[in-house]
Amino acid sequence: MAGTRRIIIDTDPGQDDAVAIMLALASPEIDVVGITTVAGNVPLALTQKNARKVCELAGRPDIPVYAGADAPLERKLVTAEYVHGKTGLDGPDLPEPKMELQDGHAADFIVETLMAAEAGTITLCPLGPLTNIALALQKEPAIARRIREIVLMGGGFFEGGNTTPAAEFNIYVDPQAADIVFRSGIPITVMPLDVTHKVLTKAARVAAFRNIGNRVGVAVSEMLSFSERFDEAKYGTDGGPLHDPCVIAWLVRPELFKGRDCNVVIETQSELTLGMTVVDWWGVTKRPKNAHVVRDVDDDGFFALLTERLAALP
Ligand code: BDR
Ligand code: CA
Repeated sequence: MAGTRRIIIDTDPGQDDAVAIMLALASPEIDVVGITTVAGNVPLALTQKNARKVCELAGRPDIPVYAGADAPLERKLVTAEYVHGKTGLDGPDLPEPKMELQDGHAADFIVETLMAAEAGTITLCPLGPLTNIALALQKEPAIARRIREIVLMGGGFFEGGNTTPAAEFNIYVDPQAADIVFRSGIPITVMPLDVTHKVLTKAARVAAFRNIGNRVGVAVSEMLSFSERFDEAKYGTDGGPLHDPCVIAWLVRPELFKGRDCNVVIETQSELTLGMTVVDWWGVTKRPKNAHVVRDVDDDGFFALLTERLAALP
């Protein structure tokens, strides 16, 4: 289709990652050229398997899925089974995937795809720790000028952190990788907690997914009913934040969101605030604007889009 965005999704599924992947696969505006997986919510052996389960659930076993980093660049892996469950995708009972994992490392797939494609045509969509993206930039710095844009879920500023008081999970897990990405000069759009905490899986919205009447709708309602429990208890809200699908919704319907260009620096030194995204929202420094930071969303419009698109899947 004319104007189709070619994307690579880098991910650590994760129920919200799964919904993001399915939103992309259901959207005619988007062409998913591959899915690369990273250790994050759960270890790599599970995230790569979960990505394949999600592709099969969506009826797309043709999507190439790669495994990448099994640990952050410099730190020990921190996982989040307390949110996502033992498998990382607790909730529905999905079959073991039949589609094979591709040979080769995720970072090599990213490099090779970018070097082979026309410059400025591939968008990277990281939904987990940024380890694979940083590794790709280290392996082949020339990719920086070939990437159309990075649209990522990570960070938080007015909202604070969800893993420490200062840091959001994806950035906290691999702050060194995040630092490399934010210093890369690549155009970056950020979906931080400030926006994802406005996109809540309220009971009526989860019921609407189930009522679509397809297998994807049922599985999504089971995934979200599981993963929202932790955040509902923590924040006292009806539903939990649906983080990662914001990245894909931004590509499909940017008018649903509002943000501004800012300087963003990642804290890599302080033990207290490690992984903090220091966002200069008010422009109080002269540091260059290196990211478009999103803060607001039309949440009803977001869920209408998601429900409509998931209905197109099996
Ligand atoms: C991020 O961390 C993960 O648990 C979610 O999948 C999301 O990418 C939110 O902090
Ligand atoms: Ca994720």
